[in-house]
Amino acid sequence: MPNRVQSALRAAAEAGIGLWAACNRLRLSGTPNPFVVGVHAPMREELTLADLPVTGAIPPGFEGLYLKMGANPAGPATRGHDWFLGDGMVHGLAIEGGRAAWYRNRWIGSRPAAAALGRPAAPGPRRGGNDTVNTNVVAIGSRIFAVVEAGSYPVELSRTLEEQRYNPFDGTLAGSFTGHPHHDPLTGETHAIAYDGRVWDSVRHVVVAPTGRVVRDRPVAVEHGPCIHDCAITARFAIVLDLPVTFSLGALLAGHRFPFRWNPAHGARVGLLPRRGDGADILWCEVEPCFVFHVANAYDDADGRVILDVVAYDTVFTAAGGGFDEPGRLERWTVDPAARRVARRVLDPTPQEFPRIDERRFGRRHRYAYTVSVPADGNTQLAGATRIYKHDLETGERRVHEFGPDRVPGEFVFVPAHPGAGEDEGWLVGLVIDTATDTTDFAILDARSFEAPPVATIRLGHRIPPGFHGNWFPARATDPDGAGAGP
Ligand SMILES: [Fe+2]
Repeated sequence: MPNRVQSALRAAAEAGIGLWAACNRLRLSGTPNPFVVGVHAPMREELTLADLPVTGAIPPGFEGLYLKMGANPAGPATRGHDWFLGDGMVHGLAIEGGRAAWYRNRWIGSRPAAAALGRPAAPGPRRGGNDTVNTNVVAIGSRIFAVVEAGSYPVELSRTLEEQRYNPFDGTLAGSFTGHPHHDPLTGETHAIAYDGRVWDSVRHVVVAPTGRVVRDRPVAVEHGPCIHDCAITARFAIVLDLPVTFSLGALLAGHRFPFRWNPAHGARVGLLPRRGDGADILWCEVEPCFVFHVANAYDDADGRVILDVVAYDTVFTAAGGGFDEPGRLERWTVDPAARRVARRVLDPTPQEFPRIDERRFGRRHRYAYTVSVPADGNTQLAGATRIYKHDLETGERRVHEFGPDRVPGEFVFVPAHPGAGEDEGWLVGLVIDTATDTTDFAILDARSFEAPPVATIRLGHRIPPGFHGNWFPARATDPDGAGAGP
């Protein structure tokens, strides 16, 4: 814990760095960031729509709320802007009784977004100066939180999206959080590996109980301030991806707002942290240098190793301005804690991202993974590919759902058909942008009839930028907040 003198020195140093960065930011290119134009152009208003048109038939029993988050700058994106840092917007679509009851989109009321919109910021405590929350929206117990990595506290949302409040898990969160917390279906706990843009020598394993209160927070020693976007769990371990993208003072001083860059000096390793262990108990296993944004799943095999399915990149953020280098591919990593090594195997070299599984199996052996195609041609907007994939990891078969020309899918989420459903017995749901009409559809696919046209399509009538991550929130037996109620 820094003393007052240290805190004052740090504040003075950061003020100086901020001034230097602001000066250099003026020298950066004024070319619009690729993630605020074209298909990524932000929405400019908050809509409340009721009874949206449906093509096909929404499956019986498919009742609940689909929520998705993305960056949607409320004001002009200035020099040094980065996709990952734009003001958050949450989109919600409620399905009830076979109809699309309502759609709403709402900005997360951070201080900069509220200032740009000329309205009061959302209530609740803040953690430092950066309160942007834009990455994911997740259930913890019966509550809904919008979340982001490395900085802000989460924002608790009502099911109607009409209320939001910054909430550090009822005062129990002691630091930053993550955009990818993972629910353990066996224990009901939610696990996170949290890093902080201002803390370079440790990250934290944070566990949140179904009540929404932190029940575990343990530091893990690292170097250089690694960027850790996602994590995984198995029955035995929480998994820390300590890969060579780290805090870059040079990028910050140059005026870039996202201060993380490829760092070949950092090395690459996967940490197996016993779930009840302390940081000193972690088993570090070396891996060839690469980067992973997203994990599909992990599990313990019968030989004491950990199987970890990821989308891996040879490098990212090597350029001065950041950005992606080459697209990612689906890989299976075998992490051997005895040899302290990770063996990588390419499952599918095709460019793809946003891996998801039937998350009732998270942390246990899975058979199927679903991913979204991304352009292979160096398209810096990561948009334009028209397929999603279903991988059968037992047979090696890859199935393709082709949405057709001009139809660009985002992340798709698996929803079981019923509580006892088999692993691929259910629906895949997500948003599909029609670039020809500048509109977005919500598509429901039958996961077993993967190539078939959607069983239902809900037309939203406007374009939702591709954004980041979404989830399905099943209707509750008693729903006091009224996900299905009229807007
Ligand atoms: Fe992500």
